[in-house]
Formats: sequence, structure tokens, C-alpha cells
Amino acid sequence: MTDTPTRLTIRRPDDWHVHLRDGPVLEGVAKYTAQQFARAIVMPNLSPPVSTVEAARAYRTRIVAAAGPGFTPLMTAYLTDTIAADEVARGHAEGVFTAAKLYPAHATTGSAHGVTDVANIRGVLERMEAIGMPLLIHGEVTDAHVDIFDREAVFIERVLAPLVRDLPGLRVVFEHITTAEAAAFVTESGPNVAATITPQHLHINRNAMFAGGIRPHMYCLPVAKRELHRLALRKAATSGSPKFFLGTDSAPHAIGAKETACGCAGIFNAPYALESYLAVFEEEGALDKFEGFASLHGPAFYGLPVNAETVTLEKAPTLVPDQIDANGTPIVPFHAGETLGWRFVG
Ligand code: DOR
Ligand code: ZN
Repeated sequence: MTDTPTRLTIRRPDDWHVHLRDGPVLEGVAKYTAQQFARAIVMPNLSPPVSTVEAARAYRTRIVAAAGPGFTPLMTAYLTDTIAADEVARGHAEGVFTAAKLYPAHATTGSAHGVTDVANIRGVLERMEAIGMPLLIHGEVTDAHVDIFDREAVFIERVLAPLVRDLPGLRVVFEHITTAEAAAFVTESGPNVAATITPQHLHINRNAMFAGGIRPHMYCLPVAKRELHRLALRKAATSGSPKFFLGTDSAPHAIGAKETACGCAGIFNAPYALESYLAVFEEEGALDKFEGFASLHGPAFYGLPVNAETVTLEKAPTLVPDQIDANGTPIVPFHAGETLGWRFVG
């Protein structure tokens, strides 16, 4: 890695958690992810969800067509209460499903078909443990009695810790962690447990949603937490630990679906993802840890080769536009109207 104050060249990174959507929006957003990343783990929360090998194969073909050459989408199976272990395992064996995604039912956008109780997919998880297929977890309980800011921490106690204890060989990615408790749980678990961290959870705390009025473009799930949690996530991301790696959770929604009486959760950060993460690593005095987080730890966990090519970022002001036109759908990107300190060169 070349590490100078003005230019940084690293192995080409991958995005280990992204929502690319489908149809015209896919056509509009895929290029942003493909520009910065060689591969991406693509979330399956479409409508209907991607729960069969056939659906994932067809979706992969549409993504490749939208993204153009040089980008590899890595597909995930959307776990439901009734999905067959054979279908999940066959998709993995055929190189279609890289991993499977556990959405607790009604935890977030597009999770209505999710799992109502992990006991219902016990056979699937045992099979995944046996074949070494990673389980990607949206880690929040959905119990209405649990405060929304506590849902991740309670999930660790009620669901994740027992799961990791009962299936000690299961490879788990705790996705988009937002709390000090999650960072500690992952750090203290075995090498089979890792986590992704988004740019927004490194930049904002929950105040950002209420700064001078309600700010729907700062709303995602899991929701941003207190400042102490943001600081713990920054420490984890920049620690050099191979358990933490880049996953943007870029989740585009049309402006009209955000700025409304019941706005969707999701932050569209793909267009300036690396610039956003790099600002954090620079502020933390950890530029030397950036390549590990962005380009090395993820492939190591997934058992994939690191990318051969490199990308370069340089210190230069980058103005993030107020809106991005995603093939006819206007979307507000993360950092809209801000000037970031790094520029993606290519
Ligand atoms: O904020 C979010 N948006 N969190 C999720 O878990 C889903 C995502 C989406 O699909 O919009
Ligand atoms: Zn997500």
C-alpha cells in the first residue's frame, strides 16, 4: 500500500452488503457500486424476495447487465420460515448463493417474509454450518416492547449469543453493527464471527435524525445510536482486526418515499462510499488500516481471493450533489451538499 498524505492506493475493495434493487432503479444505481468495488454481496429483499436458486440466478444476470463488465455480484438467499435446506445448499454448491440472509420478520424494509423465530430455520442453519456457508444477520429484535435503540443489544442476548453457542461452527456476519455491545460481541467471539460497518454509522449519531427538524435521509435501520456507540464503531473499524470489514448497506429510496408521512429506512451512500469511509480513517489517524478494512478482511472471511487490481484516492475536495438521478428516480445521497476531503480517482 502507498500511503502518502495526498494519495492512497489500495487493492480494489469489495462491498460486503449492498441493496441494488431491481428494474429501472437497478439500472440507475448499479454503476456507482461497480465503479468503486470489484464485488458486492447483494441483499435479497426484493418483492418478492430472492428465495430460490432460480430467482437469484435471474437477478444476478440483471445486475451484470446493469453494472457492465468488471463487476461480480455475489448473491444471497432470503431465508423464510419455510425455505428448504436443500434449496439453500444447492444454491451454494452451484455457486449461486454465496451466503444466506436472516431478516427477522418485520425488522426492516422488505422483511415481511422474514423469519418469525430462528427455531423455524434450525435445520437450514445446521446445514449451513456443515457446508461452511455464511449466515448474514440483520440483528434486531422486533418486539414492540423493546425500545428501538435497544433492539440490537437485545438481539445479541436473546438470539445471537445462543445461536453462536449452539452452532459453534456456523460462520456469521453480524451486518451493519451499530452498538458498542455488537462490536464487543464480535471481538470476543471466535474467528467464525465477523461484522460489517456502514459509513453512516461511523459518521452520524442519532442526533443527526433530529438536527433542527426531522431528517429522513439520516434514517436507516438499524437506526443510528448514541455518540458512545459511534465512537466504539470507529474504534472497531480502524482497529486492524480482521473481524470488521466494509459493508455500505447502501439502500436507495426515491426522495418521495423518504420525504413523506411514513418514510422508508435506508441511506444511499454508494456514489461516494470510499470517500466517506476514508474521511473516518483519516480523522482516526488510521489510513494504514484502510486497505485491510476495505479490501482484505472481507475476502479472508469469505474465503475468496483478494482483488488483483488497485484503486487510488487523492486528497481533493469532492462536492456531493444534493440529488442523484438514478435512471429517472431522484435520490438524495449520503453527505448531500457536503464537501468530502478525498476524491476517487479510479
Ligand atoms: O435502512 C435499511 N434499509 N435497513 C435495512 O435493513 C434495509 C434497507 C432497505 O432495503 O432499504
Ligand atoms: Zn441492508
